[in-house]
Amino acid sequence: MAPVVSVAKAAKKPASPVTLSGWIHRKRESGGIIFIVLRDVTGLMQVAIKKDSVSEASWKMASEATVESSVEVQGRVSEDKRSPTGFELHASSFKHINVSEPFPITEYQSVELLLDKRHLWLRSQRMINIMRARSHIFRYAREFLDRNGFYEVTPPAITKVGGETGADMFELDFFGSRAYLTESSQLYAEAMAFSLERVYSLAPSYRAENSRTTKHLSEYWHLEPEMLYFDNKKSMALQEKLVSHIANHLARHEDILAALSVNKDDLLKIKPPFKRLSYEDALSLLNQKGFSLKWGDDFGVEHERALTESEDKPVFIHSWPSEIKPFYMPINPKDERTVLCADLQAPKGHGEIIGGSERIWKYEDLIARMADVEKAKGVKFNMKNYEWWIDLRKYGSVPHSGFGMGMERIIKWLLGLDHIRDAIPFPRMSNRLEP
Ligand code: 4AD
Ligand code: MG
Repeated sequence: MAPVVSVAKAAKKPASPVTLSGWIHRKRESGGIIFIVLRDVTGLMQVAIKKDSVSEASWKMASEATVESSVEVQGRVSEDKRSPTGFELHASSFKHINVSEPFPITEYQSVELLLDKRHLWLRSQRMINIMRARSHIFRYAREFLDRNGFYEVTPPAITKVGGETGADMFELDFFGSRAYLTESSQLYAEAMAFSLERVYSLAPSYRAENSRTTKHLSEYWHLEPEMLYFDNKKSMALQEKLVSHIANHLARHEDILAALSVNKDDLLKIKPPFKRLSYEDALSLLNQKGFSLKWGDDFGVEHERALTESEDKPVFIHSWPSEIKPFYMPINPKDERTVLCADLQAPKGHGEIIGGSERIWKYEDLIARMADVEKAKGVKFNMKNYEWWIDLRKYGSVPHSGFGMGMERIIKWLLGLDHIRDAIPFPRMSNRLEP
C-alpha cells in the first residue's frame, strides 16, 4: 500500500502514490466521476474517483459513501487550478471505514443547533482551526513559564474556601459537608510557592454568576502563576512578556490565522511594554469621554470598551480602590485608598484577560485587613476554612505576587471571536450544560 500521509503532506508530494484517510467534507457526482472533498486535521483535499480508473468494489464504496463517512483513498496528487483546494488526488482505490448516517448539520444552521450538536460541529473548519489555535496557545503559555523557571502544579477542584467574593461558587455535597467547586486556585498556588518558589496551575475555575455576556463562562481554564519575591511591577513585566510570547508565537501558524481571518501582523505587534494606567487616570479619561463615574465605581463592559477600543496592545489598569478588590491584596503605602494590583484589559473591548496583585504576606496585616473587609462589607469570613492559608504567613512567609489569566479570554481576543463560547470545546454557561 502507498504510504499513509496527511492532506498537507500529500499536497507537497505531487505525482507520488499516497494513501489518505479522513472524512468526506463534501461530495458530488458528475458523469462517471465522483468528486469528494476529503478532510483531515491538516486541511482539505479534492479527490476525483473515475468509474473507469478504479475497481468495481472501489466504485461501489465511493457511491455508497455519504458526507462525514470515514474513508481511505489511494492515488496520486496533482496540482489543479480548478480544484477548490488547489490540488486533486486521482484515486486508484477507495474504501469506506464507516458510512455516516445523514449528517444533522447542513450549510446554514442556527447558533442553538450548532451548540446542541457541538460534538459534531467540532468537525467544522472553523472549530478545527480554533481548537488547533487553542492547543498552541496553551502550549506557548506553558513554554514561556517553563523557560522562566516555573513548576506546573495541580490544585484541587473541590474546596471549602473561596478566593474572590465566595458568593458566586457552585456548592456541592461532599459526603454530608458543604464544599464548592473552586473559583480560583490562587490560595493553593500560594501554598505551593512556599516550596517551589515559582509555580503555576492551569486548571478550570468555576463561576456561578448568572451573567449572560459574550465574555463569561461558568467553567473556564485559568492560568494562575504565583511568584515569591515579586512585587506588582515585576509581576506586570512578566505578564506582558507572557502575553507577547503567546501572541508572537501564534503568528507562526499562518494556515490557522488565514482560515480564521486573523492578521498575523497584528499579533506580531504585541510586544512589551504595554500601557500602564492608574485607576484614577482611567476614571478621569472615562469622564472626559462623557461617562460620569465616581471614585470606587467598578468598570463595566462599556467602560472597558471605551478605554481599549483604539488600542492595538493590552492596557494595564493598576492601583484600584481597596473596596472593590479582594481581601488578600495589600494596601498601597503611597496611597492608602488603593491596593497593589493590576488588571490587564485586552484591546477592542475584549475585556479583562488578567487579574493580579501582590499578596498580603504578613500575618498581622492579613488578619487586620480581613477584619476591615468584614466591617466595611458586612460579611463574615469562615476563618476555620482559611486557617491553613493564613498559616502560610506564620511559617517563613515572604513577599509574593501572582495573577490569573483567563485562557478563553485570551483566545477570544487573539482570534477575534465574537463570543467566548467558541474558545472552548464544550462551553458551560448558565443556559448551556449539554453536550
Ligand atoms: O479577576 P479574577 O476573578 O481573579 C482571580 O480569580 C485571582 N484569584 C487570580 C489570581 O490572582 N490567581 O479572574 C482572573 C481572570 C480574569 O482576568 C479573566 O480573564 C478570567 O480570569 N475570568 C473569566 N473567564 C471566563 N469566564 C469567566 N466567568 C471569568 N471570570 C474571570
Ligand atoms: Mg478580575
